[in-house]
Amino acid sequence: MPQSKIAGVGMYVPENIVTNNDLTAYIETSDEWIQERTGIKERRYAHRTNETTTTMAVKAAQIALQRAGIKAQEVDFIIFATLSPDYYFPGCGVLLQREMKMKEIGALDIRNQCSGFVYAVSIADQFIKTGMYKNILVVGSEKHSFGLDFSTRGRNVSVIFGDGAGAVVMQPTEAKGILSTHLHSDGESAEILAMCNPGTHANHWVKVPVATFDDAPRGEMFMSHAMVENAQNYPNMDGPSVFKKAIIKFPEVIMEALEKNNLKTSDINMLIPHQANLRIAQFVQQKLQLRDDQVFNNIDKYGNTTAASIPIALCEAWEAGKIKEGDLVCLAAFGSGFTWGSVIMRW
Ligand code: COA
Repeated sequence: MPQSKIAGVGMYVPENIVTNNDLTAYIETSDEWIQERTGIKERRYAHRTNETTTTMAVKAAQIALQRAGIKAQEVDFIIFATLSPDYYFPGCGVLLQREMKMKEIGALDIRNQCSGFVYAVSIADQFIKTGMYKNILVVGSEKHSFGLDFSTRGRNVSVIFGDGAGAVVMQPTEAKGILSTHLHSDGESAEILAMCNPGTHANHWVKVPVATFDDAPRGEMFMSHAMVENAQNYPNMDGPSVFKKAIIKFPEVIMEALEKNNLKTSDINMLIPHQANLRIAQFVQQKLQLRDDQVFNNIDKYGNTTAASIPIALCEAWEAGKIKEGDLVCLAAFGSGFTWGSVIMRW
């Protein structure tokens, strides 16, 4: 059975840099608060109308394809991870297929938020191992800036997230590539980090303190005027609860990957953690006793780009020469759902 490997990696971030100080024009916050709690200095925001989640993904994908030495028409499957799709449906995968003039190949959108890229790589790995596909394009892309509450009310969420895209091409290899992938979920706290509207829940799960669905005309139930008036069209997050769970699950799923392959933390050449919060990454590093040169972080420049954060970080680490052939590379993510996972590979 062939193994799969990452044959090319690319990234794209919008030109528009938004500093912490820029945010203080709309939100009661400060550069000091944001840096101290999250490590973020700035993030990118996509152009309001000229850039979408898909157009950013296309730019990242073009670089990944070129580095893998293949043309768009040679891709035989697309896996697109995002929580900020261009449309509620259809998914971004088909828009990417159209924009890149690919053949009539399968396009799969997955919704695993911050773990989206790790889930996507795991799916691609299975398709390659079974011999079903040879060139799989895996992308993570987010345009968060379009759906954040830029008032003080939403500040615990809005200051964290940024826009961008990352992509990889996965191919079969005779040498060792991906050694194993590990996926998990626990829906017990699904609403702790969530954007519940638009949705069909009709308050079945979400007990909101205002009448919304009952008052809404039938056709408006997906997203009523009352919901918008009550700011229920934004993501919400119980930050401390997410933090507490993340610092347990990150080390756990990294150790699971190492143990499965009889490896130790000292064998890791590069850990690319999902860029959720620098404090979380530092906690994980300390817990696993990893040196600074074994972990890559770039959240200071881009904030949390959800499904795009790992491929963007992977791309920057590789471009900086911090990942070399034969290196043991570990990807790990945790996020909304909760979902979490890891990928361990020989580069
Ligand atoms: N600027 C200034 N003050 C802010 C603020 C902001 N952007 N956001 C929240 N605050 C305030 C709160 O209102 C609160 O004020 P109060 O004490 O007067 O009520 C205070 O800061 C502390 O809020 P709290 O939410 O307890 O802060 P925290 O220390 O937990 O930090 C996060 C908040 C979001 C940075 C932190 O919880 C976190 O990073 N959690 C993990 C989030 C994450 O990783 N999410 C993505 C997962 S993939």
